[in-house]
Amino acid sequence: MRNIAVIGVGYVGLVTGACFADLGNRVTCMDISEEKIEKLKQGIMPFYEPGLEELVERNVRAGRLFFTTSYAEAIRDAEFVFIAVGTPEGVDGEADLRYVRAAAEAIADVMDHPLIIVNKSTVPVGTGDWVADIIRARRGDSVPFSVVSCPEFLREGSAISDFMNPARVVLGSLDRDAAEKVAQLHLPLRAPIVITDLRTAEMIKYASNAFLATRISFINEIAAICEVVGADVKEVANGMGYDPRIGRMFLDAGVGYGGSCFPKDVKALAHMALSNGYQPQMLQAVMSINAYQRRLVVKKLRDALGSLDGAVVGLLGLAFKPNTDDMRDAPSIDIARYIIAEGGRVRAYDPVAMEVARRILPDVEMAPDPYSLADGCDAIVIVTDWNEFKNLDLERIRDRMRRPVLVDGRNIYDPAFVRSLGFIYRGIGRGFNGEGVQK
Ligand code: UGA
Repeated sequence: MRNIAVIGVGYVGLVTGACFADLGNRVTCMDISEEKIEKLKQGIMPFYEPGLEELVERNVRAGRLFFTTSYAEAIRDAEFVFIAVGTPEGVDGEADLRYVRAAAEAIADVMDHPLIIVNKSTVPVGTGDWVADIIRARRGDSVPFSVVSCPEFLREGSAISDFMNPARVVLGSLDRDAAEKVAQLHLPLRAPIVITDLRTAEMIKYASNAFLATRISFINEIAAICEVVGADVKEVANGMGYDPRIGRMFLDAGVGYGGSCFPKDVKALAHMALSNGYQPQMLQAVMSINAYQRRLVVKKLRDALGSLDGAVVGLLGLAFKPNTDDMRDAPSIDIARYIIAEGGRVRAYDPVAMEVARRILPDVEMAPDPYSLADGCDAIVIVTDWNEFKNLDLERIRDRMRRPVLVDGRNIYDPAFVRSLGFIYRGIGRGFNGEGVQK
């Protein structure tokens, strides 16, 4: 049993805190938001993540997980302090570090015993050193501390199982002893542990996310080529994926990546490169292909409908991916806005994200289920690959639509089958089987 404080109860902080408590540690989660902490004390989660509510409840009941708005209380008995605050996007695409700075200053002000400060927030390379400088500037060498970078690789929607079964744990520090102590906290997870220096650990995080985003933009470019030469990108990805040097994961063509991580991290890495005098050509291509995918959906609608002026378009799915209500940089936002800008009307259905989406997309009318969504639609676009969209009664949907146009932005349906039901079907990169050669 170790004593751990976690600063920030966003995805990373709350999942980290609850999981460490579940591993038998005593964890205090701290956040400056009174509202979030008050709700957590009542068992209400600040966001939707499968399994989290039960995990939090179980560990609170067991007396291992606590919540507070006080830095002093969180840190009083802590040996480790995890910083897991948000790093939003700054005006030029750089990561905005104001919350990391505030956390570092507050920790410095209340610490009265040796601490290992572990940074989990995704921060530009060099931030670990900067955090140490902030603390030293306030406290000198009066209280010993070390800074360790421990980047997070969990995915929304499967955050708990990702935490409990990591592919690897990366730790970076100039203080090997401190890194070893943080490694011990992770031993029950039985994952390979990479211990390196601070900057390299921070870079591993960016390089990993940028690589996954690159795979997505790569397959989206292959999809575009599939359409003009008459090949099916889904089968291309399957055929490529059997090669163990390539693998099948993150090769699903579609409306592109969204969420709070890939868009922001690729941009931040490109910004780091540029501000240090290097032109990141591949990252720029990754971003521009990703932006194009959102326009591509609208182009497909325009091609199928003639014009979007006066057309009613139904969006199936709003969240940036399934099993989350997260709308941050969700492709649905741009897609809805482009359609509206061309004179179309947008309706939408999502199993969990409609409430969050209502605030972001006030002009979009929400439907209670996929079938009511179809009522009077000129086209439907599958934007998020929720499981519940994979076996819809398409005939029922077709009968309720004004025109039977289906743009499958996640390639979840078999083109020939959907066409056999009388739909005009457009997937992403489904030349053969799907749309024939498109020039
Ligand atoms: C991502 C990484 O996968 C995590 O390892 C990382 O810890 C996290 O960012 C982070 O930095 O915090 P996440 O944003 O939750 O996790 O979502 P992913 O499952 O990676 O999906 C990202 C986006 O890519 C989604 O919009 C998804 O629809 C899209 N995607 C994914 C594709 O378009 N095609 C694919 O083949 C895979």
